[in-house]
Amino acid sequence: MSSYKQIYDKCLKHPDEFWGEAARLIDWFKPYDKVFDKDAGVYGRWFTGGKTNACYNAVDRHVKAGRGAQVAIYYDSPVSNAKRAITYQQLYEEVQALAAFMQDIGIKKGDRVLIYMPMIPQVFTSVFACTRIGAVHSVVFGGFSAKELAIRIDDCKPKLIIAASCGIEPNRIVPYQAMVNQAIDMAKHEVDHCIVHERPITQKAPEGLFTLKEGRDFDYAKVLKENMGRKVPCVELSATDPLYILYTSGTTGKPKGVMRDIGGYIVALAWTMGAVFNVKPGEVMFTASDVGWVVGHSYILYAPLIVGATTVLFEGKPIGTPDPGTFWRICEEYNVRSFFSAPTAFRSIKREDPNGNYAKPYKLPNLQAMFVAGERADPDTLQWVTNLFHVPVIDNWWQTETGWPIAANPLGLELLPIKPGSPTLPMPGFIIDVLDDDGNKVAPGTFGNLAFRLPLPPGCLPTLWNADEQFKKTYLERFPGFYNSSDAGYIDEDGYVFVMSRTDDIINVAGHRLSTGGMEEALAGHQDIAECAVIGIKDNLKGQVPCGFIVLKHNVEREDAIIEKECIARIREIIGPVAAFKLVMTVRKLPKTRSGKILRAVIRKIIDGDEWSIPSTIEDPSTLEEIQELVKTRHFG
Ligand code: COA
Ligand code: AMP
Repeated sequence: MSSYKQIYDKCLKHPDEFWGEAARLIDWFKPYDKVFDKDAGVYGRWFTGGKTNACYNAVDRHVKAGRGAQVAIYYDSPVSNAKRAITYQQLYEEVQALAAFMQDIGIKKGDRVLIYMPMIPQVFTSVFACTRIGAVHSVVFGGFSAKELAIRIDDCKPKLIIAASCGIEPNRIVPYQAMVNQAIDMAKHEVDHCIVHERPITQKAPEGLFTLKEGRDFDYAKVLKENMGRKVPCVELSATDPLYILYTSGTTGKPKGVMRDIGGYIVALAWTMGAVFNVKPGEVMFTASDVGWVVGHSYILYAPLIVGATTVLFEGKPIGTPDPGTFWRICEEYNVRSFFSAPTAFRSIKREDPNGNYAKPYKLPNLQAMFVAGERADPDTLQWVTNLFHVPVIDNWWQTETGWPIAANPLGLELLPIKPGSPTLPMPGFIIDVLDDDGNKVAPGTFGNLAFRLPLPPGCLPTLWNADEQFKKTYLERFPGFYNSSDAGYIDEDGYVFVMSRTDDIINVAGHRLSTGGMEEALAGHQDIAECAVIGIKDNLKGQVPCGFIVLKHNVEREDAIIEKECIARIREIIGPVAAFKLVMTVRKLPKTRSGKILRAVIRKIIDGDEWSIPSTIEDPSTLEEIQELVKTRHFG
């Protein structure tokens, strides 16, 4: 077997040869003309001229190869007390039934379909029905508000929305269909149809969770039943055609539509399933994320099925559904080979079960490694998890934009020495440089901007949805010839990458990427607020949480506490509960420099309890004293 170094160097010196070989892992209807066409798209495009289909690669080819009876999806839902094993054959039939109906109602290649569903098997059927007929899906995470949904509807202009009647959170029922209806009312774009899956639930729920609007909405179950047995061939699509749009937080309230194309993505995912995650056909991968995030798209939905493995679809939380042993129970029950989650999930288990008692009943002889991504993995938690089952815990660094790990420990090639706090080495195709603010390369061990030399490898975003100029401005202009990741950190003498922070106003709350700029926009719309700032502060469980500071208009006489409560409700309504915005305080004046820049870094240090000093450029030092006083009276962390 080739070593990591041989593989990385081969990709560096002969990228066409390297990715050409990787492209053999998938089936093509027509071979590509060029592995990489530097003259196409914004910075070049992968596999131009090639024709393929992601659904064909994830479903049909396994049925054709005689694996139809193999389980494709283990659905395990402690929140709804349901379990289901779905074979490739069943998935193949259900996908065609839904695809046939979608074609009947006029959905064709290139049309957008928005999917708003919790972690239920119908999300697979919906995603693969889209990819089968060339419709571009956009899955939206359930923790966002109707307003955020409306913004996405107006940006990607879907003809169809596929939704569920509700989601089940441990403390409440989330009325998905009602939120879709609200969003449709708010959006300017008109959606032609909705297909809604009515969930059987036992919990007490608000009236009217599932109501169909005559002529516009269809009942998912009825659609499937009536169309079972229909055959819909996979449409031959260009490798460069869009597969999906996944929205992610930018620096403003308007999210960025990351566009993923088909060929490069499925090739890269197939390669990583072998080289990084080491999962083979017939083996089981369990990724405890959400299909609304990139990790869920890549390693719940697509990658395991592309290689003919089995994926676990888990609807629940790491704790409380019913206990902190849930993940380990699943790993044992389904004989999981590779398990992937976020550091936050492990922190929550560690907090509830510090001695690992809930892990003790489970024997996991087949588990080879656990993978973590989505936020910085703290070495303490990594060590604690490692001690539970004595398997390597592999940190890997990602962005929605890249679609697969930028840096990882390539278990399938060789397990490299683990350095806690580092996601190890760059993956093939990612040439990472650490640059100072003027774009000069810095010495090993020196902190700076993490930038990737262009072109980005296959699978990464070729552009933003309908926004080439925004793509160039956001990612390519800052350091010409590079993609600016907006992450900062360093690379040590051994080439290990350390990702320490963001250089923009993105914060990472429980592995969820959120924009403080977006929260500030939402707060600024409050009638009583003159000025505001939101910063990310340390949190022992979620890594970071947002904390808001508001300055009230002069004539406001209402109590601070009432306005603060309204701010919390406002962020929940405008952005969604996922923002976890629970801390806000009224101040007399925001700490600023004389040129008017809010001193966010200093405020953060004060709250986090880090060392700080008064900047010489400060306009009014008493503003920092006020925050110091507030910190003494409020509970943080
Ligand atoms: N649909 C609707 N609401 C959702 C939701 C969904 N899919 N997911 C989360 N929410 C809501 C929650 O109900 C909660 O609302 P609340 O304020 O009414 O309690 C809020 O959003 C925040 O949720 P969450 O971040 O999940 O926090 P929590 O306190 O409920 O749980 C953890 C804490 C650590 C258990 C949880 O954050 C977790 O499992 N994190 C792992 C994250 C992860 O896998 N990230 C993927 C990156 S790879
Ligand atoms: P998202 O686009 O939601 O996947 O979030 C991407 C951001 O999460 C990155 O830009 C990083 O800031 C952070 N991130 C993801 N994985 C890691 C990791 N392994 N270590 C440190 N930060 C990470």
